[in-house]
Amino acid sequence: MSKAEDSDSDETVTGSDSISTARTINNEDVLIRANDMTKHYGGIVALDGIDIEIQENEILSIVGDNGAGKSTFIKLLSGVIPATRGDFFVKGGNGELEKVILGSAADAQDAGIETVFQDMSLSKQHDVAANVFMGREPLEDGPTGKLLRRINREYMNEKSVEALEEIGFEIDPTATTGDLSGGQQQAVAVARALISDPDLVILDEPTAEVSVDGSQKILDLINSLQESGKTVLFVTHNMEEVLDVADRIAILRQGNLVTILDNDGNVDREDLVAYMTGALTPDDH
Ligand SMILES: Nc1ncnc2c1ncn2[C@@H]1O[C@H](COP(=O)(O)OP(=O)(O)OP(=O)(O)O)[C@@H](O)[C@H]1O
Ligand SMILES: [Mg+2]
Repeated sequence: MSKAEDSDSDETVTGSDSISTARTINNEDVLIRANDMTKHYGGIVALDGIDIEIQENEILSIVGDNGAGKSTFIKLLSGVIPATRGDFFVKGGNGELEKVILGSAADAQDAGIETVFQDMSLSKQHDVAANVFMGREPLEDGPTGKLLRRINREYMNEKSVEALEEIGFEIDPTATTGDLSGGQQQAVAVARALISDPDLVILDEPTAEVSVDGSQKILDLINSLQESGKTVLFVTHNMEEVLDVADRIAILRQGNLVTILDNDGNVDREDLVAYMTGALTPDDH
């Protein structure tokens, strides 16, 4: 919750007196800027010209009713679908925002963006280490690696344990992934996302199929990602979770960004639902 408190955001009184919108953030704190992001599916406008900035090291939640455009935004930012219109800018090595073309998942990864999709795309019959390193398996040193292309299992096991420990989970790297609890599987998917040391980790409904205990561990994990310097974009239907971990909350409705709120203790579940359903708009007083 650090960033919401110390950001220099414009504070505007909105619908209920105490809610503060957080639209303006300092340029140097911006990790990613989306300008006029738009996605049409035939005649359906899934996203209608969204302008949003993701602040470095914040936990930003995106909420909205079914069909509001949350997954569409994440898919655009992950490079898995092309935008109809609009641009993404990502902070480069020189600290300046640079326009990036996110035409594929590899492009997004190159830009420091890793996504854990709702289905997690885990291979359930493979073990934990295989999933953490899926598609990026390290080879053994020397001729067995170079010539025989033998995979360095020992390294994978060690690194998987380390990566999972870093996010607060103790899981046997040789366990079959499908045998793990929902929360543990989510941790494996996050550990995989962290292997490339991304700047931004996107989580789409990470607690949807997880027990209450498991959900708390995922929320702890999100906080630990922030503590380790990452920026987190978190999509969920669970308002209590949003209010628990988010620094800022972006509300989408029918493909539009309604507002972004600072989660400073003055926002409650009813406010979020009112914005999501259109009962409250930023112009209301
Ligand atoms: N592949 C597609 N083809 C056609 N329309 C689509 C496609 N994907 C999404 N849409 C439409 O775009 C709109 C936004 O969908 P999106 O999946 O982004 O919503 P969401 O906020 O993620 O909703 P949910 O909470 O149900 O996951 C919806 O009207 C949806 O029906
Ligand atoms: Mg969705």
